[in-house]
Amino acid sequence: MPNKDVVIVILAAGKGTRLRSSLAKVLHRAGGRRLIEHVVRCCVPLKPKRMVTVVGHQGDQVTAAVEPLETQIVLQQPQNGTGHAMLVAKRALGNAKIALVLPGDAPLIRTETLKSLLAMHRTGNAAATILTGYGRIVRKTETQVGAIVEDSQLAPEQRELNEINSSIYCFTLAKLWPALAHVKPNNKHREIYLTDAIAELAAKGETVLAQIALDPREVLGCNTRLDLAEVDRIFRERKREELMTAGVTIQLPETVLIDPEVNAGEDCTIEPGVQLLGKTKLGERCVIQTGSVLLNAILDDEVTVKPHSLIEESRLEDRTTIGPFARLRAGTHLKAGARVGNFVETKKAVIGEGSKVPHLSYIGDARLGSKTNIGAGTITCNYDGVNKHQTTIGNRVFVGSDSVLIAPVKIGDGAYVAAGSAITKNVPAESLGVARSHQLNKKGWAAKKRRELAAATHAKSPKKRSRKKTGKRR
Ligand code: UD1
Ligand code: CA
Repeated sequence: MPNKDVVIVILAAGKGTRLRSSLAKVLHRAGGRRLIEHVVRCCVPLKPKRMVTVVGHQGDQVTAAVEPLETQIVLQQPQNGTGHAMLVAKRALGNAKIALVLPGDAPLIRTETLKSLLAMHRTGNAAATILTGYGRIVRKTETQVGAIVEDSQLAPEQRELNEINSSIYCFTLAKLWPALAHVKPNNKHREIYLTDAIAELAAKGETVLAQIALDPREVLGCNTRLDLAEVDRIFRERKREELMTAGVTIQLPETVLIDPEVNAGEDCTIEPGVQLLGKTKLGERCVIQTGSVLLNAILDDEVTVKPHSLIEESRLEDRTTIGPFARLRAGTHLKAGARVGNFVETKKAVIGEGSKVPHLSYIGDARLGSKTNIGAGTITCNYDGVNKHQTTIGNRVFVGSDSVLIAPVKIGDGAYVAAGSAITKNVPAESLGVARSHQLNKKGWAAKKRRELAAATHAKSPKKRSRKKTGKRR
């Protein structure tokens, strides 16, 4: 349902001093996205009249991060507090009735929670409605922790003590503006705090409500690197749970890192220590073994990625197998049933149906037909120091081990390349290409050499022998 009387205001002008970073706080990443991006994305489904992001510190970069998500930008310069940020945005908010205000640094918030906050604000006919959460640490004394209590377990009296402001609020704008006009920068930072508008409203007898977030983690702000790590952990957990619910097995899930836009089909298995990044997509029944990293990889069904492989911007069709220790660089395309083995690197390479590159190869700027076999240690020499050149290998080709294919070069269908060849000329179909020096065997050479060496050693060390004879010892 659209909220045509609502403007959304995202406060993202602050520096984030506590992060100790040259990068503005809202540009830091958690859960595979920038903090600000999570917040804006969460607001989009509310279909507000308008969305306004207040930027200041590194405003250009923050603008670049959110503009594609259809938010208006307001510049707050200098940054004199959250209340000041609202005043700066005032003109851009127009005549909307309600403002939903969010900080740019609390990225775990969910759309459903915001909907429910708006609903309470409307039905309660409130001037302001604050989303709150519960602190989970109960203090024994001012300095000492008494217990960590799950939010659901908090006793009512603890609730009163541990309710915290999320910095997410609904304001009825007609009531906010006069209240905010009374707020003075009476604090050590000399800032105008939006929080002070709440006390102002309450003192005037306006209705100020609070809704407690069902999941208190949703209101976590990222003020420090520790907060960032905790928020990232929660995002990653959410994503793994989403995939497990959809039928994916994840072993030791807490060791597996999955970006938000990754997809995986039923009965895939993800082993410990795997990273699935970017827009990686797995079909059904794929197995991604331990230590592998996939970035924007598209896998069809029943693909096996053996341990410690790296795949970037590549496509692997049904029943392909790679690794262990394989590196598929951008533009690799393995057709159905193809196999790339250990210590193989590929780049802009099409490996045809059922073809194999089993060990220790570099295949770059190359196109292989089907049912072709590339022997161990074979490489394509695609680069002459200035330009890259293409290697084309047909169907049912057998390239012997340790061959060097110097591009541009073509090997025809059904051809053989003798092991150890340096191929510089095309090999026609059904032919054998041999490009190595002939072998010469010298009969008896080794035995003669050994006799010569023995005689030479004899002549050099007479002393040693005489000492042994007299039986003297030192
Ligand atoms: C704020 C709240 C605090 C709440 C906490 C929850 C105030 C005064 N305090 O504190 O009650 O418990 O959030 O996370 O609001 N910003 C601007 N312009 C400014 C100052 C800040 O746009 O001039 C933005 C920041 O970029 C940030 C957000 O407002 O995204 C909140 O600012 P921050 O400094 O993180 O406030 P907290 O100290 O966390
Ligand atoms: Ca904060």
